[in-house]
Amino acid sequence: MSTTSGERPSMLEPPVLIARKRDGHELDADQLRALVGAYLAGDVDDAQMAALLMAGVIRGFSHREAVALTDVLVASGDTVDLSALSGPTVDKHSTGGVGDTTTLVVGPLLAAAGAQVAKLSGRGLGHTGGTLDKLEAIPGFRVDLAPDQMREQVMRVGLAVAAATQDLVPADKRLYALRDVTATVADPALIASSVMSKKLAGGAEHILLDVKTGDGAFMQEVDAAVELAELCVDIGEARQRRTGALVTDMSQPLGDGVGNAIEVAVAIETLRGERHGRLRELCLELTGACLELTGQTPADGRTHAAELLDSGAALEKFREFVEAQGGDTRVADEPWDVLPTAPVIRDWNPGAGVVEAFACRRLGELAGSLGAGRQRAADTIDPAVGLDVLVRVGDRLDGGQPAVRVHAADEAGAERVMAELPEVVRVTDEGATPPPLVHARVGVAAG
Ligand code: URA
Repeated sequence: MSTTSGERPSMLEPPVLIARKRDGHELDADQLRALVGAYLAGDVDDAQMAALLMAGVIRGFSHREAVALTDVLVASGDTVDLSALSGPTVDKHSTGGVGDTTTLVVGPLLAAAGAQVAKLSGRGLGHTGGTLDKLEAIPGFRVDLAPDQMREQVMRVGLAVAAATQDLVPADKRLYALRDVTATVADPALIASSVMSKKLAGGAEHILLDVKTGDGAFMQEVDAAVELAELCVDIGEARQRRTGALVTDMSQPLGDGVGNAIEVAVAIETLRGERHGRLRELCLELTGACLELTGQTPADGRTHAAELLDSGAALEKFREFVEAQGGDTRVADEPWDVLPTAPVIRDWNPGAGVVEAFACRRLGELAGSLGAGRQRAADTIDPAVGLDVLVRVGDRLDGGQPAVRVHAADEAGAERVMAELPEVVRVTDEGATPPPLVHARVGVAAG
Protein backbone atom coordinates (compact mmCIF):
# COMPACT_ATOMS: atom_id res chain seq x y z
CA MET A 1 0.00 0.00 0.00
CA SER A 2 1.34 3.40 -0.95
CA THR A 3 2.13 5.85 1.83
CA THR A 4 3.17 8.70 -0.46
CA SER A 5 -0.07 10.67 -0.15
CA GLY A 6 0.39 11.29 3.55
CA GLU A 7 -0.98 9.62 6.65
CA ARG A 8 -3.31 6.71 6.12
CA PRO A 9 -5.71 5.39 8.75
CA SER A 10 -3.81 2.65 10.54
CA MET A 11 -6.84 0.35 10.29
CA LEU A 12 -6.12 -0.05 6.56
CA GLU A 13 -2.49 -1.14 7.04
CA PRO A 14 -2.10 -4.71 5.72
CA PRO A 15 -0.30 -6.08 8.81
CA VAL A 16 -3.03 -4.61 11.03
CA LEU A 17 -5.76 -6.16 8.90
CA ILE A 18 -4.02 -9.54 8.80
CA ALA A 19 -3.66 -9.44 12.60
CA ARG A 20 -7.35 -8.57 13.00
CA LYS A 21 -8.32 -11.59 10.92
CA ARG A 22 -5.82 -13.80 12.76
CA ASP A 23 -7.47 -12.74 16.02
CA GLY A 24 -10.94 -13.63 14.77
CA HIS A 25 -12.35 -10.18 13.96
CA GLU A 26 -14.51 -9.29 11.00
CA LEU A 27 -13.11 -7.03 8.27
CA ASP A 28 -15.45 -4.45 6.79
CA ALA A 29 -15.98 -3.64 3.12
CA ASP A 30 -13.51 -0.72 3.13
CA GLN A 31 -10.81 -2.86 4.67
CA LEU A 32 -11.34 -5.72 2.19
CA ARG A 33 -11.41 -3.25 -0.71
CA ALA A 34 -8.17 -1.66 0.49
CA LEU A 35 -6.43 -5.02 0.82
CA VAL A 36 -7.51 -6.49 -2.52
CA GLY A 37 -6.86 -3.16 -4.28
CA ALA A 38 -3.36 -3.02 -2.84
CA TYR A 39 -2.76 -6.65 -3.81
CA LEU A 40 -3.73 -5.97 -7.43
CA ALA A 41 -1.55 -2.85 -7.43
CA GLY A 42 1.44 -4.86 -6.17
CA ASP A 43 1.55 -3.03 -2.81
CA VAL A 44 0.49 -6.14 -0.88
CA ASP A 45 2.58 -9.17 -1.74
CA ASP A 46 1.62 -12.84 -2.09
CA ALA A 47 2.92 -13.67 1.40
CA GLN A 48 0.68 -11.08 3.03
CA MET A 49 -2.38 -12.06 1.02
CA ALA A 50 -1.75 -15.76 1.71
CA ALA A 51 -1.48 -15.00 5.44
CA LEU A 52 -4.81 -13.18 5.34
CA LEU A 53 -6.50 -16.00 3.41
CA MET A 54 -5.17 -18.66 5.79
CA ALA A 55 -6.19 -16.62 8.84
CA GLY A 56 -9.69 -16.33 7.34
CA VAL A 57 -9.91 -20.04 6.49
CA ILE A 58 -8.95 -20.97 10.06
CA ARG A 59 -11.01 -18.30 11.86
CA GLY A 60 -13.88 -18.27 9.36
CA PHE A 61 -15.17 -15.45 7.15
CA SER A 62 -18.63 -14.07 7.99
CA HIS A 63 -21.55 -13.81 5.53
CA ARG A 64 -21.02 -10.03 5.55
CA GLU A 65 -17.38 -10.48 4.62
CA ALA A 66 -18.35 -12.89 1.81
CA VAL A 67 -20.81 -10.34 0.34
CA ALA A 68 -18.28 -7.52 0.66
CA LEU A 69 -15.49 -9.61 -0.89
CA THR A 70 -17.77 -10.51 -3.80
CA ASP A 71 -18.43 -6.80 -4.46
CA VAL A 72 -14.71 -6.06 -4.35
CA LEU A 73 -13.98 -8.88 -6.82
CA VAL A 74 -16.74 -7.77 -9.25
CA ALA A 75 -15.49 -4.17 -9.13
CA SER A 76 -11.97 -5.29 -10.13
CA GLY A 77 -12.92 -5.71 -13.82
CA ASP A 78 -15.52 -5.55 -16.58
CA THR A 79 -19.14 -6.58 -16.23
CA VAL A 80 -21.43 -7.87 -18.98
CA ASP A 81 -24.51 -5.79 -19.82
CA LEU A 82 -27.43 -8.03 -20.82
CA SER A 83 -30.08 -5.29 -20.48
CA ALA A 84 -30.63 -5.26 -24.27
CA LEU A 85 -31.94 -8.83 -24.14
CA SER A 86 -35.70 -9.26 -24.05
CA GLY A 87 -36.27 -12.59 -22.34
CA PRO A 88 -35.49 -13.71 -18.80
CA THR A 89 -31.70 -14.05 -18.66
CA VAL A 90 -30.54 -17.21 -16.87
CA ASP A 91 -27.18 -18.61 -15.78
CA LYS A 92 -26.73 -22.16 -14.47
CA HIS A 93 -23.40 -22.87 -12.85
CA SER A 94 -21.88 -26.08 -11.49
CA THR A 95 -19.14 -25.97 -8.87
CA GLY A 96 -17.40 -28.68 -10.89
CA GLY A 97 -17.54 -32.42 -11.10
CA VAL A 98 -16.76 -35.61 -12.99
CA GLY A 99 -18.87 -36.46 -16.05
CA ASP A 100 -20.82 -33.28 -15.35
CA THR A 101 -21.97 -32.23 -18.79
CA THR A 102 -25.26 -30.61 -17.76
CA THR A 103 -24.58 -27.26 -19.50
CA LEU A 104 -24.71 -28.94 -22.92
CA VAL A 105 -28.23 -30.20 -22.15
CA VAL A 106 -29.64 -27.52 -19.82
CA GLY A 107 -28.52 -24.61 -22.06
CA PRO A 108 -30.54 -25.85 -25.10
CA LEU A 109 -33.46 -26.80 -22.81
CA LEU A 110 -33.62 -23.30 -21.34
CA ALA A 111 -33.29 -21.68 -24.76
CA ALA A 112 -36.06 -23.94 -26.09
CA ALA A 113 -38.20 -22.78 -23.13
CA GLY A 114 -37.74 -19.12 -24.16
CA ALA A 115 -35.05 -18.16 -21.66
CA GLN A 116 -31.86 -16.38 -22.75
CA VAL A 117 -28.56 -17.93 -21.73
CA ALA A 118 -25.32 -15.96 -22.22
CA LYS A 119 -22.87 -18.28 -20.55
CA LEU A 120 -19.24 -17.50 -19.84
CA SER A 121 -17.52 -20.80 -19.15
CA GLY A 122 -14.14 -22.07 -18.13
CA ARG A 123 -11.70 -24.78 -19.02
CA GLY A 124 -11.06 -27.98 -17.10
CA LEU A 125 -8.39 -28.01 -14.44
CA GLY A 126 -7.41 -30.81 -12.09
CA HIS A 127 -9.98 -33.60 -11.88
CA THR A 128 -12.96 -31.61 -13.28
CA GLY A 129 -13.82 -31.08 -16.94
CA GLY A 130 -14.47 -27.71 -18.57
CA THR A 131 -17.40 -26.84 -20.84
CA LEU A 132 -15.18 -24.96 -23.32
CA ASP A 133 -12.90 -27.97 -23.79
CA LYS A 134 -15.90 -30.20 -24.37
CA LEU A 135 -17.46 -27.89 -26.97
CA GLU A 136 -14.15 -27.52 -28.78
CA ALA A 137 -14.20 -31.28 -29.39
CA ILE A 138 -16.86 -30.49 -32.05
CA PRO A 139 -14.96 -29.70 -35.27
CA GLY A 140 -15.12 -25.97 -36.08
CA PHE A 141 -16.72 -24.91 -32.78
CA ARG A 142 -15.46 -21.45 -31.63
CA VAL A 143 -15.65 -20.14 -28.08
CA ASP A 144 -13.93 -16.77 -28.62
CA LEU A 145 -17.04 -14.64 -29.07
CA ALA A 146 -16.83 -10.85 -28.67
CA PRO A 147 -19.45 -9.38 -26.29
CA ASP A 148 -21.56 -7.94 -29.17
CA GLN A 149 -21.44 -11.23 -31.07
CA MET A 150 -22.52 -13.05 -27.95
CA ARG A 151 -25.48 -10.74 -27.33
CA GLU A 152 -26.57 -10.99 -30.98
CA GLN A 153 -26.43 -14.79 -30.85
CA VAL A 154 -28.40 -14.94 -27.60
CA MET A 155 -31.09 -12.70 -29.12
CA ARG A 156 -31.30 -14.93 -32.20
CA VAL A 157 -30.77 -18.43 -30.75
CA GLY A 158 -31.35 -18.02 -27.01
CA LEU A 159 -27.96 -19.54 -26.12
CA ALA A 160 -24.28 -18.68 -26.45
CA VAL A 161 -21.31 -20.17 -24.58
CA ALA A 162 -18.01 -18.29 -24.70
CA ALA A 163 -14.71 -17.98 -22.87
CA ALA A 164 -14.62 -15.32 -20.17
CA THR A 165 -12.12 -12.57 -21.05
CA GLN A 166 -9.11 -11.81 -18.87
CA ASP A 167 -10.85 -8.57 -17.83
CA LEU A 168 -13.79 -10.30 -16.15
CA VAL A 169 -13.12 -10.39 -12.39
CA PRO A 170 -9.30 -10.23 -12.68
CA ALA A 171 -8.94 -10.13 -8.88
CA ASP A 172 -10.48 -13.60 -8.66
CA LYS A 173 -7.94 -14.96 -11.14
CA ARG A 174 -5.07 -13.64 -8.99
CA LEU A 175 -6.60 -14.79 -5.72
CA TYR A 176 -7.62 -18.20 -7.05
CA ALA A 177 -4.07 -18.89 -8.29
CA LEU A 178 -2.75 -18.00 -4.83
CA ARG A 179 -5.42 -20.08 -3.04
CA ASP A 180 -4.60 -23.03 -5.27
CA VAL A 181 -1.01 -23.19 -3.98
CA THR A 182 -1.70 -22.27 -0.33
CA ALA A 183 -4.39 -24.83 0.58
CA THR A 184 -7.03 -22.10 0.89
CA VAL A 185 -9.46 -23.14 -1.86
CA ALA A 186 -11.95 -25.24 0.13
CA ASP A 187 -13.52 -22.46 2.21
CA PRO A 188 -17.25 -21.70 1.78
CA ALA A 189 -16.91 -17.90 1.84
CA LEU A 190 -13.93 -17.86 -0.52
CA ILE A 191 -15.59 -20.27 -2.96
CA ALA A 192 -18.92 -18.41 -2.77
CA SER A 193 -17.35 -15.00 -3.42
CA SER A 194 -15.23 -16.43 -6.25
CA VAL A 195 -18.18 -18.16 -7.94
CA MET A 196 -20.73 -15.40 -7.33
CA SER A 197 -18.43 -12.57 -8.44
CA LYS A 198 -18.22 -14.24 -11.87
CA LYS A 199 -21.97 -14.90 -11.97
CA LEU A 200 -22.81 -11.29 -11.01
CA ALA A 201 -20.29 -9.92 -13.53
CA GLY A 202 -21.85 -12.22 -16.18
CA GLY A 203 -25.03 -10.16 -16.00
CA ALA A 204 -27.86 -12.75 -15.79
CA GLU A 205 -30.92 -11.81 -13.72
CA HIS A 206 -31.57 -15.40 -12.63
CA ILE A 207 -28.78 -17.61 -11.29
CA LEU A 208 -28.97 -21.30 -10.39
CA LEU A 209 -26.02 -22.95 -8.66
CA ASP A 210 -25.46 -26.68 -8.87
CA VAL A 211 -23.33 -27.19 -5.76
CA LYS A 212 -21.68 -30.59 -5.88
CA THR A 213 -21.01 -32.75 -2.84
CA GLY A 214 -19.18 -36.04 -2.44
CA ASP A 215 -15.77 -37.46 -3.22
CA GLY A 216 -15.55 -35.75 -6.64
CA ALA A 217 -16.48 -32.27 -5.30
CA PHE A 218 -14.72 -29.44 -3.42
CA MET A 219 -17.28 -29.82 -0.62
CA GLN A 220 -17.16 -33.48 0.30
CA GLU A 221 -19.71 -33.28 3.14
CA VAL A 222 -23.37 -32.47 2.49
CA ASP A 223 -23.51 -29.95 5.38
CA ALA A 224 -20.59 -27.96 4.00
CA ALA A 225 -22.13 -27.99 0.51
CA VAL A 226 -25.45 -26.72 1.92
CA GLU A 227 -23.58 -23.93 3.74
CA LEU A 228 -21.88 -22.98 0.46
CA ALA A 229 -25.20 -23.09 -1.40
CA GLU A 230 -26.89 -20.86 1.22
CA LEU A 231 -24.04 -18.39 1.07
CA CYS A 232 -24.16 -18.20 -2.75
CA VAL A 233 -27.93 -17.65 -2.65
CA ASP A 234 -27.58 -14.93 0.03
CA ILE A 235 -24.95 -13.14 -2.04
CA GLY A 236 -27.03 -13.27 -5.24
CA GLU A 237 -30.20 -12.11 -3.50
CA ALA A 238 -28.30 -9.33 -1.72
CA ARG A 239 -27.36 -8.06 -5.16
CA GLN A 240 -30.90 -8.28 -6.56
CA ARG A 241 -30.51 -11.46 -8.61
CA ARG A 242 -33.08 -14.23 -8.25
CA THR A 243 -30.78 -16.99 -7.04
CA GLY A 244 -31.32 -20.61 -6.09
CA ALA A 245 -29.18 -23.70 -5.60
CA LEU A 246 -29.41 -27.46 -5.74
CA VAL A 247 -26.92 -29.51 -3.74
CA THR A 248 -26.29 -32.56 -5.89
CA ASP A 249 -24.39 -35.80 -5.67
CA MET A 250 -20.82 -36.13 -6.89
CA SER A 251 -19.87 -39.33 -5.09
CA GLN A 252 -20.03 -41.07 -8.47
CA PRO A 253 -19.73 -39.72 -12.03
CA LEU A 254 -22.87 -37.96 -13.20
CA GLY A 255 -23.02 -38.90 -16.88
CA ASP A 256 -21.98 -42.09 -18.63
CA GLY A 257 -18.68 -40.66 -19.82
CA VAL A 258 -15.67 -38.66 -18.64
CA GLY A 259 -13.68 -36.87 -21.34
CA ASN A 260 -14.38 -34.21 -23.92
CA ALA A 261 -15.71 -35.81 -27.14
CA ILE A 262 -17.16 -38.59 -24.97
CA GLU A 263 -19.17 -36.12 -22.86
CA VAL A 264 -20.39 -34.26 -25.96
CA ALA A 265 -21.69 -37.56 -27.34
CA VAL A 266 -23.36 -38.42 -24.01
CA ALA A 267 -25.03 -34.97 -23.92
CA ILE A 268 -26.30 -35.29 -27.51
CA GLU A 269 -27.60 -38.81 -26.88
CA THR A 270 -29.41 -37.40 -23.83
CA LEU A 271 -30.90 -34.60 -25.96
CA ARG A 272 -31.93 -37.24 -28.51
CA GLY A 273 -33.79 -39.14 -25.77
CA GLU A 274 -31.47 -42.14 -26.19
CA ARG A 275 -29.95 -42.00 -22.69
CA HIS A 276 -31.84 -42.11 -19.42
CA GLY A 277 -30.41 -42.06 -15.92
CA ARG A 278 -28.83 -39.55 -13.56
CA LEU A 279 -27.59 -37.01 -16.12
CA ARG A 280 -31.01 -36.70 -17.77
CA GLU A 281 -32.73 -36.54 -14.37
CA LEU A 282 -30.45 -33.81 -13.08
CA CYS A 283 -30.78 -31.79 -16.31
CA LEU A 284 -34.57 -31.85 -15.93
CA GLU A 285 -34.27 -30.84 -12.24
CA LEU A 286 -31.88 -27.99 -13.04
CA THR A 287 -33.97 -26.72 -15.93
CA GLY A 288 -37.13 -26.91 -13.82
CA ALA A 289 -35.43 -24.97 -11.02
CA CYS A 290 -34.18 -22.29 -13.47
CA LEU A 291 -37.67 -21.91 -14.91
CA GLU A 292 -39.04 -21.66 -11.38
CA LEU A 293 -36.63 -18.77 -10.71
CA THR A 294 -37.94 -17.03 -13.82
CA GLY A 295 -41.51 -17.33 -12.54
CA GLN A 296 -42.80 -20.79 -13.49
CA THR A 297 -43.88 -23.25 -10.82
CA PRO A 298 -41.45 -26.11 -10.19
CA ALA A 299 -43.88 -28.78 -11.39
CA ASP A 300 -44.52 -26.83 -14.59
CA GLY A 301 -40.82 -26.22 -15.05
CA ARG A 302 -39.71 -29.83 -14.77
CA THR A 303 -42.65 -31.17 -16.77
CA HIS A 304 -42.07 -28.54 -19.43
CA ALA A 305 -38.37 -29.45 -19.55
CA ALA A 306 -39.25 -33.15 -20.09
CA GLU A 307 -41.62 -32.17 -22.92
CA LEU A 308 -38.95 -30.06 -24.60
CA LEU A 309 -36.49 -32.94 -24.38
CA ASP A 310 -38.90 -35.61 -25.59
CA SER A 311 -40.27 -33.50 -28.47
CA GLY A 312 -36.79 -32.88 -29.90
CA ALA A 313 -37.11 -29.09 -29.39
CA ALA A 314 -34.00 -28.97 -27.18
CA LEU A 315 -32.01 -31.01 -29.73
CA GLU A 316 -32.99 -28.52 -32.46
CA LYS A 317 -31.83 -25.66 -30.19
CA PHE A 318 -28.52 -27.47 -29.70
CA ARG A 319 -28.14 -27.75 -33.48
CA GLU A 320 -28.82 -24.00 -33.93
CA PHE A 321 -26.33 -23.22 -31.16
CA VAL A 322 -23.59 -25.37 -32.72
CA GLU A 323 -24.21 -23.79 -36.14
CA ALA A 324 -24.10 -20.25 -34.71
CA GLN A 325 -20.66 -20.95 -33.19
CA GLY A 326 -19.21 -22.50 -36.34
CA GLY A 327 -19.43 -26.16 -35.33
CA ASP A 328 -20.24 -29.11 -37.57
CA THR A 329 -24.01 -29.60 -37.06
CA ARG A 330 -23.85 -33.22 -38.20
CA VAL A 331 -22.74 -33.88 -34.62
CA ALA A 332 -26.39 -33.56 -33.55
CA ASP A 333 -27.38 -36.49 -35.83
CA GLU A 334 -24.50 -38.94 -35.59
CA PRO A 335 -22.03 -37.69 -32.96
CA TRP A 336 -19.38 -40.33 -33.67
CA ASP A 337 -19.33 -39.57 -37.42
CA VAL A 338 -17.86 -36.18 -36.49
CA LEU A 339 -16.18 -36.35 -33.08
CA PRO A 340 -12.54 -37.45 -32.74
CA THR A 341 -12.03 -41.04 -31.56
CA ALA A 342 -9.13 -42.55 -29.63
CA PRO A 343 -6.92 -45.19 -31.30
CA VAL A 344 -6.88 -47.58 -28.32
CA ILE A 345 -10.07 -48.82 -26.64
CA ARG A 346 -9.96 -51.34 -23.77
CA ASP A 347 -12.73 -52.77 -21.57
CA TRP A 348 -12.22 -53.32 -17.86
CA ASN A 349 -14.35 -56.07 -16.32
CA PRO A 350 -14.24 -56.30 -12.50
CA GLY A 351 -15.98 -59.69 -12.32
CA ALA A 352 -19.17 -60.51 -10.40
CA GLY A 353 -20.36 -58.41 -7.45
CA VAL A 354 -22.12 -55.18 -6.54
CA VAL A 355 -20.71 -51.72 -7.29
CA GLU A 356 -20.22 -50.31 -3.79
CA ALA A 357 -18.50 -46.96 -4.35
CA PHE A 358 -16.37 -44.84 -6.65
CA ALA A 359 -13.20 -42.94 -5.86
CA CYS A 360 -14.81 -40.24 -7.98
CA ARG A 361 -12.08 -37.61 -7.82
CA ARG A 362 -9.47 -40.21 -8.79
CA LEU A 363 -11.62 -41.33 -11.71
CA GLY A 364 -11.60 -37.72 -12.98
CA GLU A 365 -7.84 -37.59 -12.47
CA LEU A 366 -7.39 -40.82 -14.42
CA ALA A 367 -9.34 -39.38 -17.38
CA GLY A 368 -7.16 -36.27 -17.05
CA SER A 369 -4.00 -38.39 -17.02
CA LEU A 370 -5.05 -39.96 -20.34
CA GLY A 371 -4.98 -36.42 -21.77
CA ALA A 372 -8.61 -35.34 -21.23
CA GLY A 373 -7.63 -32.71 -18.64
CA ARG A 374 -4.84 -30.40 -17.60
CA GLN A 375 -2.46 -30.41 -14.67
CA ARG A 376 -1.41 -26.82 -15.49
CA ALA A 377 -3.42 -24.12 -17.29
CA ALA A 378 -0.96 -24.14 -20.25
CA ASP A 379 -1.30 -27.89 -20.95
CA THR A 380 -3.04 -28.99 -24.16
CA ILE A 381 -5.75 -31.61 -24.05
CA ASP A 382 -6.62 -34.57 -26.25
CA PRO A 383 -10.35 -34.32 -27.04
CA ALA A 384 -10.67 -38.00 -28.01
CA VAL A 385 -9.55 -39.75 -24.82
CA GLY A 386 -11.45 -40.58 -21.64
CA LEU A 387 -13.63 -43.18 -19.98
CA ASP A 388 -17.08 -44.64 -20.55
CA VAL A 389 -18.56 -45.37 -17.13
CA LEU A 390 -20.93 -48.26 -17.70
CA VAL A 391 -22.04 -48.92 -14.10
CA ARG A 392 -23.36 -47.03 -11.07
CA VAL A 393 -23.41 -47.60 -7.31
CA GLY A 394 -25.82 -50.43 -6.48
CA ASP A 395 -25.52 -52.16 -9.88
CA ARG A 396 -25.20 -55.94 -9.63
CA LEU A 397 -22.67 -57.37 -12.08
CA ASP A 398 -22.73 -61.00 -13.22
CA GLY A 399 -19.11 -61.06 -14.33
CA GLY A 400 -19.97 -60.89 -18.01
CA GLN A 401 -19.95 -57.15 -18.60
CA PRO A 402 -17.35 -54.35 -18.56
CA ALA A 403 -17.65 -51.61 -15.94
CA VAL A 404 -15.39 -49.06 -17.64
CA ARG A 405 -14.25 -48.63 -21.26
CA VAL A 406 -10.91 -46.83 -21.55
CA HIS A 407 -10.29 -44.60 -24.62
CA ALA A 408 -6.54 -43.93 -24.76
CA ALA A 409 -3.96 -42.42 -27.08
CA ASP A 410 -1.69 -45.47 -26.70
CA GLU A 411 -1.45 -48.95 -25.16
CA ALA A 412 0.72 -47.80 -22.27
CA GLY A 413 -1.85 -45.20 -21.17
CA ALA A 414 -4.68 -47.72 -21.38
CA GLU A 415 -2.73 -50.32 -19.35
CA ARG A 416 -1.78 -47.79 -16.67
CA VAL A 417 -5.40 -46.74 -16.16
CA MET A 418 -6.73 -50.33 -16.27
CA ALA A 419 -4.26 -51.27 -13.51
CA GLU A 420 -5.71 -48.58 -11.23
CA LEU A 421 -9.41 -49.13 -11.88
CA PRO A 422 -9.90 -51.86 -9.20
CA GLU A 423 -9.04 -49.21 -6.58
CA VAL A 424 -11.31 -46.63 -8.20
CA VAL A 425 -14.49 -48.61 -8.86
CA ARG A 426 -15.01 -50.78 -5.76
CA VAL A 427 -16.96 -53.95 -6.46
CA THR A 428 -17.74 -56.18 -3.45
CA ASP A 429 -20.09 -58.98 -2.44
CA GLU A 430 -22.09 -56.62 -0.22
CA GLY A 431 -25.18 -54.70 -1.34
CA ALA A 432 -24.97 -50.92 -1.76
CA THR A 433 -27.63 -48.21 -1.78
CA PRO A 434 -27.39 -45.63 -4.57
CA PRO A 435 -26.93 -42.10 -3.16
CA PRO A 436 -29.71 -39.55 -3.75
CA LEU A 437 -29.23 -37.35 -6.81
CA VAL A 438 -30.39 -34.11 -5.12
CA HIS A 439 -29.42 -33.73 -1.46
CA ALA A 440 -30.91 -30.29 -0.79
CA ARG A 441 -32.57 -27.27 -2.40
CA VAL A 442 -31.96 -23.68 -1.40
CA GLY A 443 -34.25 -20.91 -2.65
CA VAL A 444 -36.12 -23.26 -5.01
CA ALA A 445 -38.98 -25.63 -4.16
CA ALA A 446 -38.96 -29.41 -4.59
CA GLY A 447 -39.11 -30.52 -8.24
N1 URA B 1 -14.89 -22.53 -8.59
C1 URA B 1 -14.62 -21.20 -8.59
O1 URA B 1 -14.91 -20.49 -9.54
N2 URA B 1 -14.00 -20.69 -7.51
C2 URA B 1 -13.66 -21.41 -6.42
O2 URA B 1 -13.14 -20.87 -5.46
C3 URA B 1 -13.94 -22.80 -6.44
C4 URA B 1 -14.58 -23.33 -7.55
